[in-house]
Amino acid sequence: MRVPGSKTALIAGSTGLIGGHCLQLLLEHPAYAQVIALVRKPQPVKHPRYREIVTSFADLGSIPPVAADEAFCALGTTIKKAGSKEAFRHVDHDAVANFAYWARAGETSCFCVVSSVGADSNSGSFYLAVKGEMEEGIAEQRFPRSHIFRPSVLLGDRQESRPREILGAGLLRLTAPLLIGPLREYRAIEGAKVAQAMVAAAQQNQPGRFVHTYAEICQLAQR
Ligand SMILES: NC(=O)c1ccc[n+]([C@@H]2O[C@H](COP(=O)([O-])OP(=O)(O)OC[C@H]3O[C@@H](n4cnc5c(N)ncnc54)[C@H](OP(=O)(O)O)[C@@H]3O)[C@@H](O)[C@H]2O)c1
Repeated sequence: MRVPGSKTALIAGSTGLIGGHCLQLLLEHPAYAQVIALVRKPQPVKHPRYREIVTSFADLGSIPPVAADEAFCALGTTIKKAGSKEAFRHVDHDAVANFAYWARAGETSCFCVVSSVGADSNSGSFYLAVKGEMEEGIAEQRFPRSHIFRPSVLLGDRQESRPREILGAGLLRLTAPLLIGPLREYRAIEGAKVAQAMVAAAQQNQPGRFVHTYAEICQLAQR
């Protein structure tokens, strides 16, 4: 049994909406002795338990793995931002897979990753197919515990403007009361809530692969 304050967490995507909230929660959480962020550029984070590793994610194989307890992944981009489908896949699939492989090499026993509602490798949607393939790749790593989070549109403050997401979030907010039963998983959700759910899920010791959509994310976030 681990004593409080002895755990090490790895986090990728800590400069983003969900990852930023996740990093903050991990730094405030008494269970963690250190939180190691994998980032593309040095960050101005000042905290006694914060460490960072600067990486392109493609070069992770050349960085010796770090022994850690849990890994949190909120990496992602959009096809528009990445510039092409191939470049999008490079981030949402390849960078996530590299991070998972590296974390597993460090004997991390729990991997928490953000995917998307509807993720399915057989989907006709390129975005959802890539997310589905990413999930399958994580399953192949055989982490003793893995938690896949499948949110719909994310709510929260971002520096960049994403008009389509803002429009989508507005529509989903308006129609939320109609999204019941199996449609409930399409409700928009705060990025902060997804981060809370990720940190809560990592505290559970039950082995297995768990997939969380809207209702489970809300439940976990309340813990
Ligand atoms: N937005 C939505 O409505 C929505 C809905 C469902 C699921 N999701 C998924 O949720 C996850 C998190 O979303 P978010 O909105 O919190 O993300 P975000 O704010 O866009 O942040 C993305 C993170 O990924 C990193 N990243 C982007 N391009 C990269 C690259 N080429 N190489 C390495 N790192 C890169 C960013 O780092 P830098 O700061 O270095 O760029 C940042 O830390 C994503 O997987 C997304 O697909 C989003």
